[in-house]
Amino acid sequence: MRLYVNVDHVATVRQARRTDEPDPVEAAAACERAGADGITVHLREDRRHIQDDDVRRLAASVTTVLNFELATAEEIVQLAIALAPHQATLVPERREEVTTEGGLSLGAPDQPTEPRLVQTIERLGGAGIRVSLFIDPDLPTIERAARLGVPAVELHTGEYANTYRESEVALDRLRTAARHARAAGLAVHAGHGLTPRNVQPVAAIAEIEELNIGHTIVSRSILVGMEHAVREMRALIDRAR
Ligand code: PXP
Repeated sequence: MRLYVNVDHVATVRQARRTDEPDPVEAAAACERAGADGITVHLREDRRHIQDDDVRRLAASVTTVLNFELATAEEIVQLAIALAPHQATLVPERREEVTTEGGLSLGAPDQPTEPRLVQTIERLGGAGIRVSLFIDPDLPTIERAARLGVPAVELHTGEYANTYRESEVALDRLRTAARHARAAGLAVHAGHGLTPRNVQPVAAIAEIEELNIGHTIVSRSILVGMEHAVREMRALIDRAR
């Protein structure tokens, strides 16, 4: 199972003072030294954490692979095409949200998928970038994603992260969704809200091949250092497998 570390919140700390520290590029290098298989960043339209120049510098310095999360804002799509990262994960974005709250809407069953999203998938794919869609673990949405011809989906684990203490319902939903997506020919990724306390049941789902984890690793890195924080997460995932 691949662990991609999202370093957005290293930039959040820097942006709190608008200085040049801590540097997400240095943090990414530490993640790679500790065994991360890839680095993920989300360049938001509001530029609240990661900045354009961070993505440019990461594209030039990452020695594993870069997973560029973005919505369909034209200038950001253009930047992604120019940098040609290994992977682009399309996510929904709302200005007022604290973090990405739900998966992409791919359209109601009797409605076409929003043309802008379809065009963005085609443009990124046409530039040779592997495209993943961040979606809720919902069977009709998975089928729609497969019909859109993308190679991968990332299942939103937010509901699981919010409810795992009380119930197994969201975990069962993830298991079913992962099986369904794999059977539809999609590579299955997952992420959002995963922590050392809840990661293992998700890491144990055989169909999931990639986890994207950010906030908890950056939080822990403040106390124990980035390399240590990544190694802890890596060990938990490997044990669950
Ligand atoms: N995957 C996607 C698509 C995301 O948008 C995020 C948050 O930016 C994550 C994974 C990581 O979530 P967290 O920071 O809660 O680990």
